[in-house]
Amino acid sequence: MTAIPLIVDCDPGVDDAVALLLAFAAPERLELLAVTTVGGNVPARLTARNARIIRQIAGRQAVPVYAGAEQPLVRAAEAASHFHGESGLGWMEPFEPDVPTAAGHAALAIVETVMARPAGTVTVAAMGPMTNLALAMRLEPAVVDRLAQVVVMGGARREGGNITASAEYNIFADPHSAQIVFSSGLPAVVLGLDATHQVRTTPERLAAIKALDRPAARIVAQLLEFSQDVERRLVGPEPPPLHDPCTIAWLLAPELFTAVPVGLSVETSSPLTLGHTAVEFRGTDPGGSAIRWVTKVDADGVYALLLEHLRG
Ligand code: BDR
Ligand code: CA
Repeated sequence: MTAIPLIVDCDPGVDDAVALLLAFAAPERLELLAVTTVGGNVPARLTARNARIIRQIAGRQAVPVYAGAEQPLVRAAEAASHFHGESGLGWMEPFEPDVPTAAGHAALAIVETVMARPAGTVTVAAMGPMTNLALAMRLEPAVVDRLAQVVVMGGARREGGNITASAEYNIFADPHSAQIVFSSGLPAVVLGLDATHQVRTTPERLAAIKALDRPAARIVAQLLEFSQDVERRLVGPEPPPLHDPCTIAWLLAPELFTAVPVGLSVETSSPLTLGHTAVEFRGTDPGGSAIRWVTKVDADGVYALLLEHLRG
């Protein structure tokens, strides 16, 4: 099986960090071309540093990390540090990594990386506000046809929102960029809250990760314990959902997911429902829509996949 050429666009972020560790642990399946970072959960200078911290822990220093957009395209930046800690990495002790960010803006790096590869080969896993990808599409429109697909963590339909009543954080944080990406015609697989809320870190699943006693597994356990604590304090008694790693799990084991073609538009003007994803199943031509919405996830399968990769 050939490895999927992949760019991970992220805003670490506790669950972004887990997603990165999973992606770094699968070199035979994912050819990680670059990690691009964006301001989101915490400001851009921290997301770039955090991605480099995780890269160093994974021992994958050869993968370039490019720092990207500090601000969304139109609206003001809105962090989510109440969910990720001031550093963005929960209870982890941040440190200055050995290897700096690569030269150049993340959006340009996306353009250059995608244009240098054969058409239809490079995938982007987008797990933060999609400012970098939208900028790349505006800088070089040919990127849209050149990309294989984008796998997005973002949006909500049945579940309602997690940052406002009707919006999921990544889309709310930069709705204009999300609309550019979703209306571009680029094939997209979208893992919204309807999917990720099915994938929860129960005490049993966390215990299985802790039992691995491997460096990356210890970090993942600490990150997930932080999420557990935040979820209990800010949301409710249910175990915390595992959002961003679902994008990587989709790439590694799509059979764990059910996805259906939909129409998808983002609300970009209403102050009340800004960032809402209008997901339309009715009348969507199964062959014609470029967007697939994930409706069902085998959560045990996702945690088994995570365990398998953390086991090394
Ligand atoms: C998404 O928002 C961020 O806070 C998480 O990292 C994830 O990407 C979940 O709504
Ligand atoms: Ca994220």
